[in-house]
Amino acid sequence: MTRRPYIVGNWKMHGTRAMLSEARAIDRAAQRHMKVEVALAPPFTLIHPIHREAEQISVGAQDCHHADGGAHTGDISAAMVADAGAKFVILGHSERRQDHAEDDALVRAKAGAALAAGLRIIMCCGESAKTRESGRAVAFVKTQLKASLPSPDDVPADLAERITVAYEPIWAIGTGNAATTDDIAEMHDAIRHLLVELYGEEQGGAVRILYGGSVKAENAAEIFAVPEVGGALVGGASLTADSFMGIALAA
Ligand code: G3P
Repeated sequence: MTRRPYIVGNWKMHGTRAMLSEARAIDRAAQRHMKVEVALAPPFTLIHPIHREAEQISVGAQDCHHADGGAHTGDISAAMVADAGAKFVILGHSERRQDHAEDDALVRAKAGAALAAGLRIIMCCGESAKTRESGRAVAFVKTQLKASLPSPDDVPADLAERITVAYEPIWAIGTGNAATTDDIAEMHDAIRHLLVELYGEEQGGAVRILYGGSVKAENAAEIFAVPEVGGALVGGASLTADSFMGIALAA
């Protein structure tokens, strides 16, 4: 990894104000490990409280709406999460794609809205167990990513800073079964080729590609040693400072 490893915690639908002490502990630990860029994506309700106190970590959202505003009860816009202190938004997570029927076109529209609001995006992609068993995982992920990422005509000049990709095989999420380093290497290499094809050697070559799916302190070092792995998107193990920073330390 040439750039600073990027370790992002996705708290999913976990976290009330009682969890602020963990966020504080993560922030304090991140101040001692500046070689790693640490970020947290808590539920919407904790974005502002964490942002207000954090000195080192950046805070992001787990979703945003594709519209600027309007009659969308229960939704939240990119500008609103930015106003609350979010610096980035996770988009296209398989749980959003499954639970909320988000398709590639909607995810791409959200990406456009997030970039326009000045946010960085973490674009998720990943195949199901069935697709992997069929031998079509690489083709599936490339197609999904190409249709979800902003089109090359529609990206900011500093896209390598603004766009991060996260490969999260669905079957590895929350199961304790991370993908093998060979599978990660093959997929990250394919994603890198796609990014270069889309955005050119310089920009596409610099976009960070994270791995997500059962990353923990015990397997982090071997995953981070895989070429083209620029960090991790972490679910369960990001909920406590000890387990999350164990991963950051391995980077
Ligand atoms: O976005 C992170 C995620 O889906 C991985 O979750 O719990 O397997 O680390 P987990």
